Amino acid sequence: MRLLVTGGCGFIGSNFIRYYLKNYPKVSIINVDKLTYAGNLENLSDLSHSPRYHFIRGDIAEAARMEELIRKGVDAIVNFAAESHVDRSIEDPGAFMRTNIFGTFALLEAVRKVFPGQKIRFLHISTDEVYGSLGETGAFTEETSLAPNSPYSASKTAADMMVRAYYHTYGLPTVITRCSNNYGPHQFPEKLIPLMVSNAMEDKELPMYGDGMYIRDWIYVEDHCRALDQVLRQGREGEVYNIGGGSERTNLYVAKSILDRLGKPHSLIRFVADRPGHDRRYAIDFSKIKRELGWTPTVSFEQGINQTIEWYQTHREWWKKIKTGEYLDYYKRMYQDR
Ligand code: NAD
Ligand code: DAU
Repeated sequence: MRLLVTGGCGFIGSNFIRYYLKNYPKVSIINVDKLTYAGNLENLSDLSHSPRYHFIRGDIAEAARMEELIRKGVDAIVNFAAESHVDRSIEDPGAFMRTNIFGTFALLEAVRKVFPGQKIRFLHISTDEVYGSLGETGAFTEETSLAPNSPYSASKTAADMMVRAYYHTYGLPTVITRCSNNYGPHQFPEKLIPLMVSNAMEDKELPMYGDGMYIRDWIYVEDHCRALDQVLRQGREGEVYNIGGGSERTNLYVAKSILDRLGKPHSLIRFVADRPGHDRRYAIDFSKIKRELGWTPTVSFEQGINQTIEWYQTHREWWKKIKTGEYLDYYKRMYQDR
C-alpha cells in the first residue's frame, strides 16, 4: 500500500507517519509538505533513511503537481495539510483560505482527474471546531449543525463541504474525521499545552485568555493516530467520524497541572485579554466510531500530560530552536500588549 500524506512535517502528521510505518511494515509513505513555519523536517529526521518514507516539498494547492504525484501510484491520501492555529487566523486569515479551502479543493480535483481509473481513498482531517461552541452541557455528534466561529474553523468547514460534495457528485471515496484538541510530542509551541510547558520551564509567564474557564476535550495524539488508522481502513465512504479524548478540562486546570508537575508557582499564570470569538466549550460524542470501528481513547489526561511534559523536558533543543526568529516576532505581536 502506498499512502500520500499531506502536511506530514507538522504535529499530527509526523506522529501519524511514524505510527503507520511502525505498525505496517508493507506500507510506504510519500509526505508532501510545504514547510510553512509549522512544518519541521526534524519531526521525522529519524526516518530520513527509510526506504519506505519519501519526502517531497510541495503545496497541496498546486493541483497539476498533485495529479502528477498521484498518477505515479497512490492507494490513499490522508490530508493533514492546513494552517492550524486559530489566533493566527484572526490576525491574518488569507493563508487559511488558500491552503485549507483552495488547497483541499485542488487536491480533490487531482483525485477526480484520475478517477475512476484510479480509486484513491481520501481521508480528510477536519476538526470539532466546525461545530462551533457548546453551552455547559451536551457534546458534538456528527449530526450537530455546523457553526464555525473563527476564520480557521470557517475555512475547515468550507473544506469539509467540498469533500462532501465530491463524494456526492463524483463518487470519490472520501471520509472525514473531526477530532478534538490534540497534545503530545512535536506540537508547535504556539498551542496551549506546549506553549505553557515550555514557558513554565523557562520561568516565563503563562498567558491565560479571559477567565481561563474555557473547556477543551484533550486527546493524546497517539490515540488520534490510532483512530485515523481505523477510519482509513474501515470507515464507511461518505461518512463523518468524530474523535474525542473524553477528557474535558478548563484551560486554568491544564495550566495549573503543568505548573504543579514542573514544581513552578501558579503565580506564573497571567490573565490576558480574551481571544475574539472564543469558543467556550468543546466536547465530543465519539459513540459512532466506537460502535462502528471499536475505537476508544486509551490515554488518560494525567498519563498524557506526564508523557508530554517529559518529552518537552528531554527535547529542549527541539523547541528552543523554534522559539527564535519568526516565533519571537509572533509572540510579541500576540502577547506583548495584551
Ligand atoms: P500543524 O500546524 O502542526 O501542521 C500543519 C502542516 O501542514 C505543517 O507541516 C505545514 O508545513 C503543512 N502545510 C501547511 N500548508 C500547506 C500546504 N499548502 N501544502 C502542504 N503542506 C502544508 O497542524 P496539526 O496540529 O498537526 O494539524 C494537522 C491537521 O489536523 C490540520 O488539518 C488541523 O486542522 C487538524 N486538526 C488539528 C487538531 C489539533 O489539536 N492540533 C485537532 C483536530 C484537527
Ligand atoms: O479543537 C480542535 C482544534 O484545537 C484544532 O482544530 C486546532 O487546529 C487547534 O489549534 C486547537 O484549537 P484551539 O484554539 O482550541 O487550541 P489552542 O491551543 O490555540 O487553545 C486552546 C485553549 O487555550 C483555547 O481556549 C484558547 C486558550 N489559550 C490558548 C493560547 C495559545 C490561552 O488561554 N492562552 C494561550 O496562550
